[in-house]
Amino acid sequence: MTAERRVRITEAGPRDGLQNERSVVPAAAKVAFVDLLSDAGFPEIEVSSFVSPRWVPQLGDASEVFAAIRRRPGTVYSALVPNERGMEAALAARAQKVSVFAAASEGFSKANTGGSIEDVLARFAPVVRAARAASIPVRGYVSCVVRCPYDGPVPPERVREVADRLLALGIDEIDLGETLGVAEPADIERLYDGLARSLAPARTTLHLHDTNGRALDNARAALALGVRSFDSSAGGLGGCPYAPGARGNVDTAALVRMLHDSGYDTGVDLDAVSRATSVIRQALRPAAS
Ligand code: HMG
Ligand code: MG
Repeated sequence: MTAERRVRITEAGPRDGLQNERSVVPAAAKVAFVDLLSDAGFPEIEVSSFVSPRWVPQLGDASEVFAAIRRRPGTVYSALVPNERGMEAALAARAQKVSVFAAASEGFSKANTGGSIEDVLARFAPVVRAARAASIPVRGYVSCVVRCPYDGPVPPERVREVADRLLALGIDEIDLGETLGVAEPADIERLYDGLARSLAPARTTLHLHDTNGRALDNARAALALGVRSFDSSAGGLGGCPYAPGARGNVDTAALVRMLHDSGYDTGVDLDAVSRATSVIRQALRPAAS
């Protein structure tokens, strides 16, 4: 299999999936979910977030979950961090990669992190320094790359400005978040066209939500442009508590099946994904009264 046909999948279900559920899944069920996902052979699993539990109570047990998961060699176990405090907790938990998250729109930045784009970027500088000192990579999310729930359409130039600022901070990977899940393939083409001067598609990860059922079409459009790294979520779980109306990430099994059927290799075992999905669905099922 040539590098051109190899696609990298980051499983985001334990983080993006569970942060938006009404119920708080017990830590033991999260650990079982991550362990089953490990069996599927993902190169990276986003395990949790070291954010304020006031903001995202669903992931308040990130340290406990990190301490109990089984770590498969070959899988990177990563976490979201919004600031220096989160970074300290992520390092103590032995996260192998961290993700900072900015937005391309002021409305979402304020709603999701309590600060302007500028405030949030300033919080990331010490995070990147600490990651360098600990020799772990940093992913930089840019949310709302097509549309913001508060500010409406987002021009690609705005995405490029924020991506450039993240790259200037020394971030290793840019992850483009289509937070609302409303994009059409033409929006994805416009987005990458706008980014072309800063960032080749092959250097980005695309994080698609699937509110309007177009995520697979959007992934196909991105593949045609040269994108080879995607986030997805087992069972299509997910959403952001601060992006009202947005549904889950593109479903891992559907994405991997589409890629395999199109002649791409992911190294992901679909039977193992199915076992992990059943277990987390069971944990999310309301108890019979
Ligand atoms: P704030 O309220 O503006 O700031 O929150 P603060 O510094 O006043 O902190 C508030 C409280 O949180 C304080 O506690 C701090 O100590 C505590 P209190 O004194 O009130 O008891 N605190 C923390 N606790 C634990 N860990 C920390 C931490 N930092 C402060 N790291 C803050 C600012 C950034 C903390 C807050 O806004 C926050 O945690 N936001 C996270 C929101 C979030 O996780 N959203 C979902 C992830 S992003 C997403 O889903 C999009 C993505 O999927 C891509 C896409 O789809 O586009 C990535
Ligand atoms: Mg997301």
